Amino acid sequence: MSNWSPDSWLNFQIAQQASYQNQEQLKEVLQELAMLPPLVSPQEIDDLKAKLASAAKGETFVLQGGDCAELFSDCNAQAISSKLKILLQMSLVLIHGLNKPVIKVGRMAGQYAKPRSAEVEQINGISLPCYRGDLINSPQFTAQDREPDPRRLLKGYSFASLTLNYIRTLVENKFADFSDMANWDLDFVSHSAQAEEYHQILQQIRHSIELLDNLTNHHANASVKDKIYTCHEALHLQYEQALTRKDESGRWYNLSTHLPWIGMRTAQENSAHIEYMRGISNPIGIKLSASTSAEQLLKLCNSLDPDNEPGRLVLITRMGEDRVRQTLPPLIRALLNEGRSPLWCCDPMHGNTSVTKSGIKTRRFDAIIGEVTETLAIHQKLGSHLGGVHFELTGEHVTECVGGARGLTEIDLQRAYKSLVDPRLNADQSLEMAMQIVKIHNRLRSREVLKNNQESA
Ligand code: PEP
Ligand code: CO
Repeated sequence: MSNWSPDSWLNFQIAQQASYQNQEQLKEVLQELAMLPPLVSPQEIDDLKAKLASAAKGETFVLQGGDCAELFSDCNAQAISSKLKILLQMSLVLIHGLNKPVIKVGRMAGQYAKPRSAEVEQINGISLPCYRGDLINSPQFTAQDREPDPRRLLKGYSFASLTLNYIRTLVENKFADFSDMANWDLDFVSHSAQAEEYHQILQQIRHSIELLDNLTNHHANASVKDKIYTCHEALHLQYEQALTRKDESGRWYNLSTHLPWIGMRTAQENSAHIEYMRGISNPIGIKLSASTSAEQLLKLCNSLDPDNEPGRLVLITRMGEDRVRQTLPPLIRALLNEGRSPLWCCDPMHGNTSVTKSGIKTRRFDAIIGEVTETLAIHQKLGSHLGGVHFELTGEHVTECVGGARGLTEIDLQRAYKSLVDPRLNADQSLEMAMQIVKIHNRLRSREVLKNNQESA
């Protein structure tokens, strides 16, 4: 890797950074962080990369999901386990419906820093720096709370570590174990419109597992139970750099998370974020919006993945339901022409945000489904694969997105709107989303089979 070091990004233009008043304290904190143990291992990261390579070929499917911004106060057993539970339940629906393994990646254990569209927020004529996520400042609207505080970086590290520790504990014990039906069953979706359908899926999977166990004298449950990987937007480069470590083979890894991604607002050519990401060995996510051109994308791929390494790039498209048909095909074609086959994922959330008349940020369930449907159809038509989906979701019964089987309306948004940033799907909407994805996928697949049969007849 020529001319790269964990701090070579300092020579490049950087966007979306906090400015700290107490530089001396920032320096001390970063030195301390650099001494602390890593949160994940190079081996886990390499394993994930291999799995992402299989998803790029259509052999497996990726489910990436979690909060827009995790809060430090969400580092508690209830919030972590309910998010894990909805991810597991969605993955079960997808494994069963798509008939392939599902790789689960939580926007968890480190999703604490947020890019913002404005530098400042104004309320009643008072103007303060905007809230940039718990890693940087506090959401309360006072000058002191909005001041970036370096000590938050240590807190972020600790909360990420505690969250990850709890995820690992849950997964290694009975929580993700399919034989422990209580965790998979319907306690918290029991009143949802999808309860009956989900219950049937659960029964079918249980029968398949029992059958397999009897036939092979082997504990088939082990293949359902799988690792949970983590991801976050690698926005705060000083923090990310402090957790960037060299392994025995001399390769650099960001060991704060398995899958760091570059957000749409920091993915410009020659940006500090691109420079930092180019040198680490993790798989890398890149958000692509409706304004990304094919030329830009090719340059990004050449900088970040010059060797066209399987599993290295996860291209997360977030075009918007109404723009995806025009904007996605040129990007797919450009990469197909270059012989590149990255993992394509669809983030149907960020291109479909709207603001209600009373000023509340929301997303329509139908628009989200609409973008997934279009995206799947486009990939199928062009001969590439949609290998995964990326959602902002929570295991709680919030009311932030409108629509879904329970028909949430704008009036419901006042009831349980908790997100300080983007609106998330609640537990019911998330499960319904997984079921809808299966239906859309299978509908498109049967159409293709029919077409192929007609052509060969
Ligand atoms: C996000 O994923 O929360 C986000 C800010 O996304 P994007 O960079 O795509 O706007
Ligand atoms: Co968001």
